[in-house]
Amino acid sequence: MNISIIGAGQMGSGIAQVLAQKNHSVTLIDQSSKILETAVNSISTSCDRLIKKEKISLKEKENILSLITCAQDLKSAKNSDFVIEAVSENIALKLKIFKELDAICKPEAILCSNTSSISITKIAGHTNRPDKVMGMHFMNPVPIMKLVEGIKALQTSQDTFLKVKQLAESLEKVFVKSSKDMPGFIINRILMPMINEAVFVLHEGVASVEDIDLGMKLGTNQPMGPLALADFIGLDTCLAIMEVLDTGLGGGKYTPCPLLVKYVEAGWLGRKSGKGFYSY
Ligand code: CAA
Ligand code: NAD
Repeated sequence: MNISIIGAGQMGSGIAQVLAQKNHSVTLIDQSSKILETAVNSISTSCDRLIKKEKISLKEKENILSLITCAQDLKSAKNSDFVIEAVSENIALKLKIFKELDAICKPEAILCSNTSSISITKIAGHTNRPDKVMGMHFMNPVPIMKLVEGIKALQTSQDTFLKVKQLAESLEKVFVKSSKDMPGFIINRILMPMINEAVFVLHEGVASVEDIDLGMKLGTNQPMGPLALADFIGLDTCLAIMEVLDTGLGGGKYTPCPLLVKYVEAGWLGRKSGKGFYSY
């Protein structure tokens, strides 16, 4: 299949890699040529790790890289059978991109969003093919994490749902379905309040960054502490998700911690900016 990925950040590059690993022809689109260059380098590094583990061969790596074409113009998605959008977690940006994609892509193409929290129903409503729009939520790091969360918009057809599920399973991912298109779906509705609470624990001086993370790692058997995970996800993304939960679900339960807001204001976005709760 011809598949386009919009947004070549950490998620877009990982999604492009797993698709090319299964021989799909991928067009990776980002507005920034520098980000596209970084994306190709990170795919190459990720393949090297997989070679080291004898999961793929050098020849397969070469094939993966040859299947990925980079582009800066959304129009490059015009021949795609399937599009997966993975731009920043910003509703206005996603609505604009889906409107443009709807005009550019073949009428039969399926348009998915990798959004962490935003209403798929709203995104679908901004296209003339709402039945062919769905949430296809990969986890970070995409080449390692087994899960894809599927989110049907109110308008998504059963045919689209089955095609998205089939694609996820063909990538050797386990597919779970969020039966309702509610803010944060399943994973981030549960994960993000935990991360936000960890930031409150730091903000209120209850414990240090190191003790919060060590406590949660060893005390609850998580591979990373919540603050390290927040840095890994991106603090801008964590804040954007909390804002969607807060606006959409209310009740005071999802108010973003002021310290999280301050860090994002400072441009301390975690690993991607070199500083977050830790320095990189
Ligand atoms: N590509 C290929 N291989 C990778 C990789 C990548 N991008 N990233 C890590 N790996 C491999 C490493 O090569 C290593 O393999 P071996 O164990 O065979 O040597 C293995 O994964 C572990 O990596 P590291 O030793 O470098 O580091 P680690 O042990 O700390 O593991 C981790 C890294 C896999 C990220 C692990 O810490 C982890 O699982 N963390 C939690 C991740 C998580 O919760 N993700 C979900 C985030 S939430 C989300 O995605 C949804 C959202 O909308 C925000
Ligand atoms: P990121 O900041 O690493 O990448 C976002 C990319 O979008 C950037 O490369 C940026 O240049 C690009 N972009 C912005 N505007 C664009 C435009 N108009 N046209 C083309 N490209 C544009 O973010 P990310 O972590 O990869 O997250 C992307 C999406 O995936 C978000 O919706 C996020 O919520 C979701 N997500 C993130 C994670 C995570 O752990 N980071 C996990 C699952 C889902």
